[in-house]
Amino acid sequence: MAKAKATVFFCKECGHESAKWMGQCPGCHEWNTFVEAPKQSAGILSSRVGGRGLGSGSASGRFPETARSRPKKLSEIESSGEERISTGMEELNRVLGGGLVSGSLVLVGGDPGIGKSTLLLQVCRNLAGEGHRVLYISGEESLRQIKLRAERLGDFSGELSFLCETSLDIISEVIVEEKPEMVVIDSIQTMYREEAGSAPGSVGQVRESTQTLLRIAKEYNIAIFIVGHVTKEGTMAGPRMLEHMVDTVLYFEGERNVPYRILRGVKNRFGSTNEIGVFEMRGSGLSEVANPSEYMLNGKPEGASGSVTACSMEGTRPVLLEIQALVCRTSFGMPRRTAAGTDYNRVNLLLAVLEKRAGLHLSDCDVYVNIAGGIRVNEPSLDLGIVMALASSHRDVPVDDNRMVFGEVGLSGEVRAVSMAEKRVQEAAKLGFTSCVLPKVCLSRISISPKNLRLIGVENVREAMELISR
Ligand code: TYD
Ligand code: MG
Repeated sequence: MAKAKATVFFCKECGHESAKWMGQCPGCHEWNTFVEAPKQSAGILSSRVGGRGLGSGSASGRFPETARSRPKKLSEIESSGEERISTGMEELNRVLGGGLVSGSLVLVGGDPGIGKSTLLLQVCRNLAGEGHRVLYISGEESLRQIKLRAERLGDFSGELSFLCETSLDIISEVIVEEKPEMVVIDSIQTMYREEAGSAPGSVGQVRESTQTLLRIAKEYNIAIFIVGHVTKEGTMAGPRMLEHMVDTVLYFEGERNVPYRILRGVKNRFGSTNEIGVFEMRGSGLSEVANPSEYMLNGKPEGASGSVTACSMEGTRPVLLEIQALVCRTSFGMPRRTAAGTDYNRVNLLLAVLEKRAGLHLSDCDVYVNIAGGIRVNEPSLDLGIVMALASSHRDVPVDDNRMVFGEVGLSGEVRAVSMAEKRVQEAAKLGFTSCVLPKVCLSRISISPKNLRLIGVENVREAMELISR
């Protein structure tokens, strides 16, 4: 019989596995992402059935034997009700679906330096302060560096211990001995298992390490946070590949030079992925932003042309933000167009709609569009705001500072309905806006009539332009 091949190929991006090398991944259609790695007994299922140990004799064979188990009816399954632990941060609790679930594996991904370690260290501090046993394992920083960082974050108390280690065989032994309720692994790319044979950070190692952590989490009912750096190129395996292995995937986003950070749920087996958490990076760590609208509008200039307040939905929360546009005569033959914080092509499309449907001559103008605050939004409901900001700057007529604008703009210049209009209107009323420009079709869907807020329905961009000439 032919000997089974000892290696397989899989995609660095999505983890698609194949027996042979392929130029394009059939899973995510990316090119040149296939790498060779040693074959695992892997696949969560096969490792469970096979009952492979964690190495170093730590826990082999202790995983429940699923091979002999029988199918059960729903009524036969015990539902002890999943236990939720509060992380001490409302923003994070909400993204997790109401707190951290014991025995779950949570991946926190993001660019290096965005604040993942800081966030998790703060979570450790909160949990330890509430009397939970917590273990923070770093493969990136020395204990001294962690101490320096911790000192900036404030007082630490309770059962929180730190370990600098990259060998997962040792780590699993320590976890089994210490039996903490929550563990942080910072980061998965620095961890390795002797058995996997390849370098830390390689696809094979990252998969093998995650598998080991998954089994520890389920077997000992420990909540484990895994930090994963996002790498666009290179040999390091990105956290995308791990998404299907873990219970919850959160991405920490933001620009490094802007203090605003968003924690976004991408996958959650214990809750909805619609929620976001908003944080601000300060000298003393991350602080929660309970009211993102107020925060985003902070510093909006008064009476300036080209500045419009719009409303985007981040999950189920409306967030008001400032759209800035600058339109000026081009000094060279080719007009310049830039869009920061939103889709460049969408801005070009809206410029064409304004030119054709509202008679604005923009073809000889440079156009700059920016979403203030360093946030990135691609929601179509910003269209009307962008269009009004462009026209306001072009005509040099300011839009009323107490006016909020939302609506999608179509290619015929029509203003189309957007979802959750009522929530957006409510947010405008809450923050003291006096008028709100919205798609006319949305008016009938709004059952509330806020006292000091005038609702102005518009059908097309021409009508919206009339609001600017006044
Ligand atoms: P860090 O948590 O180390 O990022 P990651 O783990 O995602 O790589 O965050 C590093 C950045 O955060 C660093 O540039 C400094 C900044 N920072 C603050 O601004 N305030 C603080 O209190 C801390 C701890 C970090
Ligand atoms: Mg870090």
